[in-house]
Amino acid sequence: MDYGGKRVIVTGSAGLVGSEAVAFYSELGARVLGIDNNMRRSFFGADGDTTWNRERLEREHAGYEHCDVDIRDRTAIDTLFRAERPTVIVHCAAQPSHDLAAKRPFDDFDVNAVGTLNLLEACRQHCPESPFVFTSTNKVYGDAPNEIPLVEQPTRWDYARPEDFHGIDESCRIDNCLHSLFGASKVAADVLAQEYGRYFGMPVGVFRGGCLTGSHHSGAELHGFLAYLVRATFEGRKYRIFGHKGKQVRDNIHSRDVVAAMDAFARAPRPGAVYNLGGGRDNSISMLEAIRAIEQRCGRKLDAEYVDEARIGDHICYITDMSKFRADYPSWSLRHSLDSVLDEMVEVMSRRYAAEGDAQSAASRSAATATASVRLSPETPSSAGTNASGKRSSNSNGPAAIGGAESSIET
Ligand SMILES: NC(=O)c1ccc[n+]([C@@H]2O[C@H](COP(=O)([O-])OP(=O)(O)OC[C@H]3O[C@@H](n4cnc5c(N)ncnc54)[C@H](O)[C@@H]3O)[C@@H](O)[C@H]2O)c1
Repeated sequence: MDYGGKRVIVTGSAGLVGSEAVAFYSELGARVLGIDNNMRRSFFGADGDTTWNRERLEREHAGYEHCDVDIRDRTAIDTLFRAERPTVIVHCAAQPSHDLAAKRPFDDFDVNAVGTLNLLEACRQHCPESPFVFTSTNKVYGDAPNEIPLVEQPTRWDYARPEDFHGIDESCRIDNCLHSLFGASKVAADVLAQEYGRYFGMPVGVFRGGCLTGSHHSGAELHGFLAYLVRATFEGRKYRIFGHKGKQVRDNIHSRDVVAAMDAFARAPRPGAVYNLGGGRDNSISMLEAIRAIEQRCGRKLDAEYVDEARIGDHICYITDMSKFRADYPSWSLRHSLDSVLDEMVEVMSRRYAAEGDAQSAASRSAATATASVRLSPETPSSAGTNASGKRSSNSNGPAAIGGAESSIET
């Protein structure tokens, strides 16, 4: 498909996967319209703020158009789709956390399930021929993957039986297991998306992601496993590891590989198809292994604390079997090794810190100049502890430390 001048709509466009999709389609000449209301900030506080990523997209992709619309707003979404009639839709906007879903169940369901329905129906009304890609999650399998027999190794859990070596495929059941409310709202969206493919024959594809990662994640305590681990290591934050001896395993896939897979689908869609999407065994890592790998790259130790209580329903070992997708789309291949992903994340984070540090020094220099020429009164509020972007800094050693909350694992 030639995307030159074609309209592509990406929801969650300032998030990790959405921003990658914006870059991918912009580079192919599409006119990309992104929908994102920065709800990640409302979900996760300053750590989750995606403004920096939105601004980066606007800087780097001249044709990018941002739309600050809430996908829960059915009328706004319908109006937008009627006006734009996009050629491809990549739907990444979501509430992505288990723990937050328990605290904000209505927001979770309204964004994940109802928001997805709003988009699917707007497509059916205005562009039913256009491929629609939905980012679901492996959490639709609930804790069923934990029924697979495991063996304990020095730094990780692994599957005990040879037949499980390649991981979980799409035949894993999605009911009669524990999901969390997040998993349940994603199941609703996943099944709705399948129905728009099967019942209405629309070119809708469902991708059940493992750990999707990359340097453009606004890593927060409750979401973004590797991104948050890098952040916690850099900033000297306390990091709490919950249960399973820290040997729980995730496979990781770079957002660029994610979007390439989605685009392979968009070019040759199979209505209602469901695919697992992850980095597979080669890109799998346990919590203990990830901590060590990141500490080595950052040159500093993580302030980790072990809590002998696992998260409810946490996958103990999850490795994605992508055989089905590879068979249907043989031209796709995984391009980013886990090592290269970690290298990139640490490097980009270092650069961001250096830039924020420079901005901080510049701010201090101009503050010093102002002090010299204006003479601040003793009552003038101090700017200490605040970085150039106004965020609180809790770590005098590292630039732009944001908050100081304890942390935990959620992928
Ligand atoms: N990152 C992962 O490890 C992972 C794993 C499995 C599945 N997924 C799924 O992939 C998708 C993308 O994940 P991500 O990591 O890029 O998430 P993300 O949180 O980085 O991006 C989602 C974006 O959606 C926006 N958003 C949220 N609610 C919105 C609303 N009501 N209206 C408009 N915009 C809204 C947020 O502001 C955020 O920028 C999600 O559906 C997620 O459930 C992610």
